[in-house]
Amino acid sequence: MVPSWLAHNPRASGALKFGRDQQYVVDPNGIAELCEELKQCPKHATTPLHSLPALAARLGIGELRVKDESQRFGFGAFKALGGVIAVYDALASAVGDAHRANASFAEIMSGAHKEITGRFVFSTASSGNHGRSVAAGARLFGNRCIIFLPKFTSTEKEAAIRARGAEVIRVDGDYDTAVAECKRRSEENGWTIISDTSWEGYDQAPRSVMRGYCVLAHEIVTQWREAPTHVFVQAGVGGLAAAVIGYLWAVLPTRPAFVVVEPESADCWFQSNLAGKPTLASGNADTVMGGLACREISPITWPVVGEATDWFMTITEDEVMPARRLLAHPLDGDPAIASGPSGCAGFAGLTRVCTDEAAFKALKLDRHARVLVINSEGNLGEQPA
Ligand SMILES: Cc1ncc(COP(=O)(O)O)c(C=O)c1O
Repeated sequence: MVPSWLAHNPRASGALKFGRDQQYVVDPNGIAELCEELKQCPKHATTPLHSLPALAARLGIGELRVKDESQRFGFGAFKALGGVIAVYDALASAVGDAHRANASFAEIMSGAHKEITGRFVFSTASSGNHGRSVAAGARLFGNRCIIFLPKFTSTEKEAAIRARGAEVIRVDGDYDTAVAECKRRSEENGWTIISDTSWEGYDQAPRSVMRGYCVLAHEIVTQWREAPTHVFVQAGVGGLAAAVIGYLWAVLPTRPAFVVVEPESADCWFQSNLAGKPTLASGNADTVMGGLACREISPITWPVVGEATDWFMTITEDEVMPARRLLAHPLDGDPAIASGPSGCAGFAGLTRVCTDEAAFKALKLDRHARVLVINSEGNLGEQPA
């Protein structure tokens, strides 16, 4: 019997095809070109894909690779990709509508279309990282930006957003309260919302955000000749999971086993899987994993995450620090990796499975398994001892 924190997805089967519904969410076309375009960005560099053979042996698997997003753009999290690309897409699309021509990253950065792009004021709700990314994008292209933060976001994250020139509005509530307040104020003021989550009638920006995240999935494919057999990816609203699952599913010859990992109190994907449709989390999303503290999924991601994730699982708060420690203090010869609480969640999920015999067997993990996890954020706060 598999443990109660692990649930199979009855919709995921080997016969599942990446079709139009999936391509609408995550389109693999154009991602290689986007990676080229990003080279115009001064701080852009491919992030490392570390191999940890000693830890893999300890966990009883064949290979363990960690895509280390703590290095992204000198920014500390994969989120850097989403907000910056979505701000660019919004501006490029406005220039395209006006001039019927594509505007490159460099052109918009240089202010070549200021008469069109200068009118935009960007806004978003965020638990921290996404807001920092939208702020960075707005600054890169010279636009005003307003970020709505929930009560729990750390003062370090707020300072990092302000340091990128954005205005910050704190709401007296959680992430979902920040989303609601952002929507209300943005409608009143004519601000363009760059949200990483979708809702009825609003999906363009979240799709652009996921287009940005696909960059990391594309890099993985170019960095690892042998494809992974298992992928553990953490989810908040599901944008990261959709980009990673969608892209790898679309381009790899064989679909790996995908495992989506969430905090116990913010298990909106776990519950949605059980219900067979988008459903609220069972808890109040009170977790140290701030980036994953979501009570609702991004509905647009359902055709990818809801259908192609093989297993959904949760982790406890107590599993976060040991996982961060394991990455920070490596075994013989493995590289040290700095991770934040949300960053290490996929890896914490892997360690939970590897220490539970029934779960390990159910996921068909063994000495031949090649496992991918994503360190989605580095260490912005305290260092694990
Ligand atoms: C560090 C980190 N990891 C993972 C996630 C989850 O991403 P998503 O909300 O797209 O599922 C977030 C979201 O903010 C994050 O900040």
